[in-house]
Amino acid sequence: MPIELREVWKEFDTKVKALDIVNLDIAGGEFVSIVGPSGCGKSTLLRIVAGLLAPSGGACVRATNARAAFVFQDAALLPWRSVLRNAELLMELEGYAAPDRRQRAEKAMQLVGLSGFADAYPHQLSGGMRMRLSLARAMALQPDLLLLDEPLAAVDELTRDTLQEELQQLWRKLNFTALLVTHNVHEAVYLSTRIAVMSPRPGRIEKVINVPFAFPRAPELRATAEFAALTGQVSALLRHHAVGGAE
Ligand SMILES: Nc1ncnc2c1ncn2[C@@H]1O[C@H](COP(=O)(O)OP(=O)(O)O)[C@@H](O)[C@H]1O
Ligand SMILES: [Mg+2]
Repeated sequence: MPIELREVWKEFDTKVKALDIVNLDIAGGEFVSIVGPSGCGKSTLLRIVAGLLAPSGGACVRATNARAAFVFQDAALLPWRSVLRNAELLMELEGYAAPDRRQRAEKAMQLVGLSGFADAYPHQLSGGMRMRLSLARAMALQPDLLLLDEPLAAVDELTRDTLQEELQQLWRKLNFTALLVTHNVHEAVYLSTRIAVMSPRPGRIEKVINVPFAFPRAPELRATAEFAALTGQVSALLRHHAVGGAE
C-alpha cells in the first residue's frame, strides 16, 4: 500500500515542534527505515502515518480501507492472557468473530514459529519470543502496512539477527509495506529498500538512501565491503546531521 507524506509537520500543545516539513513517498510493498537522533520525531511520524495522531499541517495520504498494525519495542503483552489469547487481542478489539480470530491467531503463530506455545503465558517466553508474539499479533490482522517502532532495540544481538531474518521473510512472503524506526544502522541497511535519515528535532528528512542489494538478503551480506560502505555512509550522515542535536 503506497503512502504519501506531503508537507507534514507537527507541533504539540506544549509548543514542542516535533516535526518540520516532511515529504516522503513510499511505494506499496516497500521496506523503508527511518533513522535519526533521539527525540527527532520518529515515533511522532509513525503515529501520524498510523492515523493515531493528526499532523498540525500537511497530509498523510493512504488508502482509507488499508489496515495498519503497530509493533513496539516493549511487546506490550497482557500477562494474564495466554500466548494464543494475546495473539487474538487486536482482532478482539476490532470485533472479529471468535472462530475467525482463533484461526488467524493460530496461523500467525505458525508464521513466527510459536505454534507450540499457544497455552504458555508471556512470562514464560524469552525476549525474542515475546517479540515474535508481538509480531504475530500484528500479522493476524493481515496488515497492508506494518509500522515498527524500534522493535528489536531491547533484544540481544544474536536474537536480533534471527528476528531480522524472520522479519525479512515475513515481509517477502506477505507483501505488506513496512516502515521501521531503528537506531541500528546495520539493521536498517540489511532490511530496507530505502533509508530516510532525519535531522535533530524538529525532524526533517535530510536524505533518502537507496539500498541496492537484491532480495532475499542472506546474513553473509553483512560481511561484504559493499555492506560496510553503505552502513558507513548512513552512519556518517547521521553523525553529520546530529551535530548540535540531542545525541
Ligand atoms: N504527546 C506529546 N506531547 C508533547 N510532546 C511530545 C509528545 N510526544 C512526543 N513529544 C515530543 O516530541 C519530540 C519528538 O518525540 P518522538 O517522536 O517520540 O521522538 P523519537 O521517536 O525520534 O525519539 C520530543 O521532544 C518529545 O518529547
Ligand atoms: Mg521514538
